[in-house]
Amino acid sequence: MCHIRSTKRERCLDGAGGGSCNKLQVKVAENWSYQWNEVPGWDSTEYGNSDAFAGKRAFWNFIPLNQSDLQNANALVACGGLGREAYHLLEAGCRRVIVNEIGDEIFRIPQMVPDSANRLILIRSDVLHLPVRSACLDAAVCDHALQHVLDHRTAYKELSRIVRPGGRVAICVYSWENNWIMTGCIEPTKLILHPLPLKLQRYIAWPMTVCVFAVIHAFYRPLSAVAPGVASHLPLFTHMMFWAECRFKFLWMAIFDLIHAPVSHHFRQVEVQTLADQHNLVIESLINTNGTLWSMIARKPSPTN
Ligand SMILES: C[S@@+](CC[C@H](N)C(=O)[O-])C[C@H]1O[C@@H](n2cnc3c(N)ncnc32)[C@H](O)[C@@H]1O
Repeated sequence: MCHIRSTKRERCLDGAGGGSCNKLQVKVAENWSYQWNEVPGWDSTEYGNSDAFAGKRAFWNFIPLNQSDLQNANALVACGGLGREAYHLLEAGCRRVIVNEIGDEIFRIPQMVPDSANRLILIRSDVLHLPVRSACLDAAVCDHALQHVLDHRTAYKELSRIVRPGGRVAICVYSWENNWIMTGCIEPTKLILHPLPLKLQRYIAWPMTVCVFAVIHAFYRPLSAVAPGVASHLPLFTHMMFWAECRFKFLWMAIFDLIHAPVSHHFRQVEVQTLADQHNLVIESLINTNGTLWSMIARKPSPTN
């Protein structure tokens, strides 16, 4: 049986370093609750499907931790959504995985990650205040989420606090570099979209998805088959080829996710490096994954190093 601990929703949800209730934080939690509970995206079978977005290959591409370091490890997943990361970490041999998530989707994780027995602990809480002792875990993972946290610096501080000396913090965040469609087009458009009901935003994402799907399958994919050298110069090529492997249903959810996110920070490389530097973590790898994300693995030095 897994353990679930929940903080009360009615209690104040702290925001960016303040102590007062923060409406934006509540909106973040509510929007993802809607996405994970109402919008068909993936089910648990996709975690075992290596080619899917939620599958093994994509996960280890986003979070390139060395799997042999995770044997019998105790790990925490921050902002763990529907349990995707927890599934892959448990499958890689972690002894125990703690999942933090602010939204009520956390209650669905036991169905999404079956047979996890006593190896899964779910804590519904704000990542800015993790109820976990300092320096007690081997790894902390935050995938596709730090950019949506109001105060990502404090969140990273929490992740570095809970890992032991020699342990690792692994994050994957949106990159500012190469993401001009997001920073220059989608983010400004949110000013018009966000006052609309979420359901309407979801249906606005549908024609956008049809266009992206058509461009990928009628243009990017065929061109990459006949002239890969030319195709590789197309905008967002690696990202589009990654999306080419996804089903329409998933793509629709992904595009809805991009437009509804109340908080979305695009990180410059130097900002990501600074997160690790500020907590004296040693950067082991920093990769511009798919040309649109930063994947960083950083290690807390052991006293002997
Ligand atoms: C884009 S989703 C990613 C979910 C999961 N990491 C994945 O990739 O499958 C971002 C998640 O971060 C969660 N989140 C946002 N702010 C949070 C906070 N302050 N504390 C905990 N979770 C938070 C949201 O509820 C949402 O489920």
